[in-house]
Amino acid sequence: MCGIVGYVGDREAQDILLGGLRRLEYRGYDSAGIVTVDVEGEPSLFRAKGKVAELEKAMKDKPDRVGIGHTRWATHGEPSEVNAHPQRVGDVYVVHNGIIENYKELKSELKAYDFKSQTDTEVLAALIDSLYQRSDVKLENAVVQALKLVRGAYGIAVISTREPGTIVAARMGSPLIVGVADDETLIASDASALVGHTDKAIYLNDGEVAVCTAGDVRMLDLASQPVSAKVETIEIDLQSMQKGGFDHYLMKEIFDQPDSLRATLNGRVIKDQDLLRLGGLNMSDDELRKVKNVFIVACGTASYAGLLASYYIERFTDDVTVRVEVASELRYRSFNVPENSIAIFVSQSGETADTLACLKEMKRRGVRCLGVVNAVGSSIAREVDGGVYVHAGAEVSVASTKAFTSQVAALLLIGLVMAQTKGLDQKTLREYIAELDVLPDEIAKTLEAKNDEAKALAEKYNHYDHAFYIGRDTTFPVALEGALKLKETSYVHVEGQPAGELKHGSIALIDDRFFMVAFVDDNWLVEKSLSNVIEVQARGGHIITVTNSDRPIDTEAVITVDTSLKLLTPLLFNVVSQLFAYYMAVARGNDVDQPRNLAKSVTVE
Ligand code: M6R
Repeated sequence: MCGIVGYVGDREAQDILLGGLRRLEYRGYDSAGIVTVDVEGEPSLFRAKGKVAELEKAMKDKPDRVGIGHTRWATHGEPSEVNAHPQRVGDVYVVHNGIIENYKELKSELKAYDFKSQTDTEVLAALIDSLYQRSDVKLENAVVQALKLVRGAYGIAVISTREPGTIVAARMGSPLIVGVADDETLIASDASALVGHTDKAIYLNDGEVAVCTAGDVRMLDLASQPVSAKVETIEIDLQSMQKGGFDHYLMKEIFDQPDSLRATLNGRVIKDQDLLRLGGLNMSDDELRKVKNVFIVACGTASYAGLLASYYIERFTDDVTVRVEVASELRYRSFNVPENSIAIFVSQSGETADTLACLKEMKRRGVRCLGVVNAVGSSIAREVDGGVYVHAGAEVSVASTKAFTSQVAALLLIGLVMAQTKGLDQKTLREYIAELDVLPDEIAKTLEAKNDEAKALAEKYNHYDHAFYIGRDTTFPVALEGALKLKETSYVHVEGQPAGELKHGSIALIDDRFFMVAFVDDNWLVEKSLSNVIEVQARGGHIITVTNSDRPIDTEAVITVDTSLKLLTPLLFNVVSQLFAYYMAVARGNDVDQPRNLAKSVTVE
């Protein structure tokens, strides 16, 4: 979603801002802009619809040493130059992530202004400008006063031609980080934009304002009172941000999975001692033993990781009910939290607005909240009472792949640790530990063995615009995840369904315009799954079966995954479906890493 960068120091700002915007490109955006100001207060504003490369073409070199920049993912108003940020009103320039909910109300009161864009951000800029009219008012005061009148979510950076050399930044619900270094200060909505400049940063909390000058930061709250700031060391693995010889981040991240999963399991699964070790849950054995209900709250792929894990957790505990909740629904629903509940928030970015809102609500109700998060230092990671970093490394492609696998593994670890306190038998524990231990190698083997088959199938099936993905039990979440992956990368209309649900309606759709991917695990349900496949085949369905079974299966295509795994096979089926989605996107000529209309980190609801 939108990205913010800012720089004030003794180097030329334009290059640093452009570099930062390029680092944020992966988040998804549709226009970009930069403003810098020289020592006399003379501004240079450049904005462009489209990619940062378009902005660069539109820019003229200016050696100014302060500026702010933005990549915009349109919310209010179409993607266009006039709606791009920075938005200027009078002497004030604003870049903004988030949504000002009461912008219409505010706009109707700002009668003196002739608004040029359709954005809520221009309204915020006008509001700041209206409070900045008197020459004795400082920018920081005008910003603080304006923010007190605003309802909604924001991460903002503001500069003024009257105070060149100062950037005022603020946060409410949308991430913002201030990077500190000798003689220079940087601002970013995502730590990746700071890489190469500094590894020391202040993560703003909601309601905090940072007044940044070269090499200095002063923190305030919305009552203009000073607040102390903690400077933290940020860890960004630069290698994760490179394509590593692959054509696309998506493919690189699919092939990262053996290593990213090893990083998730490392030090946590100790196979030779049949031991699991999770340092960060911050729950005693006694507290874990008492848990009866687990809410797993997430969005998109992270919610499917939660759903898959829920099948396993309910399998290896007798007294735990797991509810998987899509955060955008849960946040506005009236729901009860029974005694002895915990809530687990699953998020790659750690910034998903709906997931964060549910976390705040659960905390308000006094529920113990755990995080399963990839981005270190992100908002969700900072708000939870404990949890597990998945350590999958930066995921750049909008379509989430390696995070899913690591999220499932991390949730299994939490579930197993809890089950252990409840007396899980050693045999079952040992089976899961053994499978988790070899899972990275099994994924590596599957990727290597199935890559060409997935590619060949994509070449055959890429002309279809409709598909069904079906599965049963633990392959049902894989069907949902596979369907989402294909949708977002290939723009094929796909429905994920429980295999047994087809004949309750959807099977009526089966005709020559559809193909189907059926996940068939060779377990106690294999015959039921195959019956569902045969029912579709009898109606002329074009079926690709993904299975580990050696039974004869007579569908149009079959991908057989050769594995010794018995419990975690769905995670192998899932990597096959990731490969297929990748090759479908390539075959259809799509923007693989930044699919249309999507953003990597969904920081607005
Ligand atoms: O950062 P999060 O894990 O909280 O993101 C949740 C979803 O937005 C995300 O998984 C989304 O569905 C991906 N585009 C799926 O590939």
